[in-house]
Amino acid sequence: MTNRATFGSKLGVILATVGSAVGLGNIWRFPYMLGENGGAAFLLVYILCILLLGLPVMITEFFIGRYSQRNAAGAFKALAPGSKWSIIGYNGVLAAFMILGFYSVVAGWTLEYFVQAVTGSLGGKSAAEFTADFERFSSGVFRPIAWTVVFVALTHTIVISGVKNGIERASKIMMPLLFLILAILCVRSLTLPDAGKGIAFLFNPDFGKITSSAILSAMGQAFFSLSIGMGCLITYSSYFYKETNLQRIALQVTLLDTLVALLAGVMIFPAVFSFQIEPTAGVELVFITLPNVFGQMPFGAVWSFIFFVLLALAALTSTISLHEVATAYVLEEHKISRAKAATYVSLGVLVLGVVSSLSLGIWKEYTLFGLSFFNLLDYVTAKIMLPFGGMLICLFVGRRIDRKILKAELTNNGTIPFYFFHTYAFFMKYIAPVAIGFIFLNELGIIKWMV
Ligand code: TRP
Repeated sequence: MTNRATFGSKLGVILATVGSAVGLGNIWRFPYMLGENGGAAFLLVYILCILLLGLPVMITEFFIGRYSQRNAAGAFKALAPGSKWSIIGYNGVLAAFMILGFYSVVAGWTLEYFVQAVTGSLGGKSAAEFTADFERFSSGVFRPIAWTVVFVALTHTIVISGVKNGIERASKIMMPLLFLILAILCVRSLTLPDAGKGIAFLFNPDFGKITSSAILSAMGQAFFSLSIGMGCLITYSSYFYKETNLQRIALQVTLLDTLVALLAGVMIFPAVFSFQIEPTAGVELVFITLPNVFGQMPFGAVWSFIFFVLLALAALTSTISLHEVATAYVLEEHKISRAKAATYVSLGVLVLGVVSSLSLGIWKEYTLFGLSFFNLLDYVTAKIMLPFGGMLICLFVGRRIDRKILKAELTNNGTIPFYFFHTYAFFMKYIAPVAIGFIFLNELGIIKWMV
């Protein structure tokens, strides 16, 4: 395909990709997963998953996308015509809808908190009041749904105007600012009374906590946070230049993404212990911890204002990338206009978003496997569809792609070195798919090597 869209600049490539990876996954999902799965032991397994599974899968997605120059499903049709491998892409497009279905609800919450910061209603409350207020808001009907709609509309507007002008530009200002404010909040949190308990929770592993379900959660979080396993990075890398250094981008994105998650942990856990909040609080953890921290700071309202703006923007660069997976697929494979494709996607996402928001409130009793619709979307995507997609992506490239082609693409036809190519190829072909398979089988109880 010629004349395909590309990102506007080198910086745009890296910022858009980091923008996709860094989002609510780092600041909202990572801390609560860590809190629910025993703290430091989870962190350790998470980091192993990032290095052993995440990095090889990410490089492999970059290969597929830039080599094929197609969307998540089209890529497999182009590289293996007539085969069943394009199921990886369909799994990814479906996952994009499902993730957006709960992600936009949480993204909507950040807008509510941003408005509360502006109107000053975040100030002067006790820890218990923050918790009660969050629960009242998130289980309501109108407000959370309205914010979800606003967020989907924002995403939609940017996706239809193409990625280059909107998001690339915004990311350049916002990503450095996000780092800065996280660092400031870490310092504030670390100087709270009892901060040491939070740091111990985060960094002192209790190996007894490494259970089968904690491993599955850590693997799911690694895939979710790096935006891998569903073709998001296939889609983005199809917009990269032929000169882009894929290895370097993969390393930079992985490092930055992990750094942001760690900073979020350092910002949240000291506060959790200082304000005696339960680390296992679940989805509300960040939304009740942070307002408490801001309350302890001079000009707390200003800090919370800046923080929630940045969080909303970080969420937006991620929702765009999710939306783009589905939009690019509909647009290219069904040959309709970008605007029309994006509209179908947004409408589908809204339906899921409304149901998942209500499933935390008035539709709480309706559960499947003990999970609300919101949690079901989260569970099925992060813990099943993404690792499954990642496993298939590795199997596909390992089995169907000639090593020489793989190496040529990853070294830009031999113009840049790839010192660890054989290690990478070994991990991609054997270690990653086998490890993911093991974790699945163990969780299902089919093999039992761990409780
Ligand atoms: N990685 C993003 C975050 O951490 C969310 C996200 C964007 C994502 N694109 C994705 C998750 C693709 C899974 C797959 O917030």
